[in-house]
Amino acid sequence: MMKILGIESSCDECAAAVVEDGKLVLSNVVATQIPLHAKYDGVVPELASRMHTEWIYRVAGEALEKAGLSPAEIDGVAATAHPGLLGSLLVGLSFAKAFAWARKLPFIAVNHMLAHLYAPRLHWEQPPEAPPEYPFLGLLVSGGHSIICRVDNFDAISVLGTTVDDAAGEAFDKVSAHYGFGYPGGVYIDRLAKKGNPEAFRFPMPSLRKGDHPYDLSYSGLKTAVINQLEQFRNPRAAAGSDREDIAASFQKTAVEILLRALFRAAEDTGLTTVVAGGGVAANSYLRSRLAERADLRSIFPPMEFCGDNGAMIAGIGYQYLVRGDRSPLSAAASARVQGFKKRYP
Ligand code: KG4
Ligand code: ZN
Repeated sequence: MMKILGIESSCDECAAAVVEDGKLVLSNVVATQIPLHAKYDGVVPELASRMHTEWIYRVAGEALEKAGLSPAEIDGVAATAHPGLLGSLLVGLSFAKAFAWARKLPFIAVNHMLAHLYAPRLHWEQPPEAPPEYPFLGLLVSGGHSIICRVDNFDAISVLGTTVDDAAGEAFDKVSAHYGFGYPGGVYIDRLAKKGNPEAFRFPMPSLRKGDHPYDLSYSGLKTAVINQLEQFRNPRAAAGSDREDIAASFQKTAVEILLRALFRAAEDTGLTTVVAGGGVAANSYLRSRLAERADLRSIFPPMEFCGDNGAMIAGIGYQYLVRGDRSPLSAAASARVQGFKKRYP
């Protein structure tokens, strides 16, 4: 049996976990910085890395303590190396390297987005009914990324589509910041939308430009419509309700339709019938219910605690590399981006 310590610090969650044999979660500690960044309506990178520096030692210590283990009982260390905020990544990565070096343990640097796709395999005592079998479709939607991909193994994905501008979560955050709903935007919009009329505004769907892939996504048009051209899209036939709730519900509906249009297209074209969702936006209740309506697709959402950023998914995927004999050098670098994960205008 192999017990891996997983360290995650790519954004605003300072997280550590111990996972046995890539599946059984022994501890999962997530110290969130949300209250710190909320007053700025977004993550302030400099503050984030500073807090990680202050917290990482205690967070990792708590993960060991909750697992009932001493450092000597850990068999390997995994940490997020990319993508993410560079200063934040460096803290967790450096801590993990130091831990591995001091205890002479195997070390592996992992990709945060691949770890999100690994999350449905994690469990506490009760194993999940049937973990998804490869290949499947991956829907990775967070504050920094929106990716539709074909997943052939824990370390093998082919990106089918990405956003050409804003990430899905970024659109939730920006709309929410504009209207003062709260941060993180997705959480507040999801909540407000439950009391709103999704037909109150009819926002346009993006049209793909020449050269875009049919599974690409775009959110800047929707964001502009909701923030700057709101009245233009008011549906005269919808009963007037409360604007806050109606804006949230109408925006959320369109934001999710954008994702689903591309996802369903990819499902049809690839013939893949299992979808694994991951990243913060995968917590969205409207997205979940719309996917559940599709009886022909098996949609898998990791449990909420493994859906957002956490150390367990890092330890879990880290185990798969380590057990195969893969190792990262202690010189392994952090990087903000991963090639091909985000499109840029030429
Ligand atoms: O994966 P994550 O925790 O961190 C990143 O790697 O970015 O994702 C955070 C994003 C934020 O943009 C947040 O607004 C969004 O996930 N989010 C949601 C919901 N909960 C969090 N978006 C839509 N609906 C939600 N319920
Ligand atoms: Zn994430």
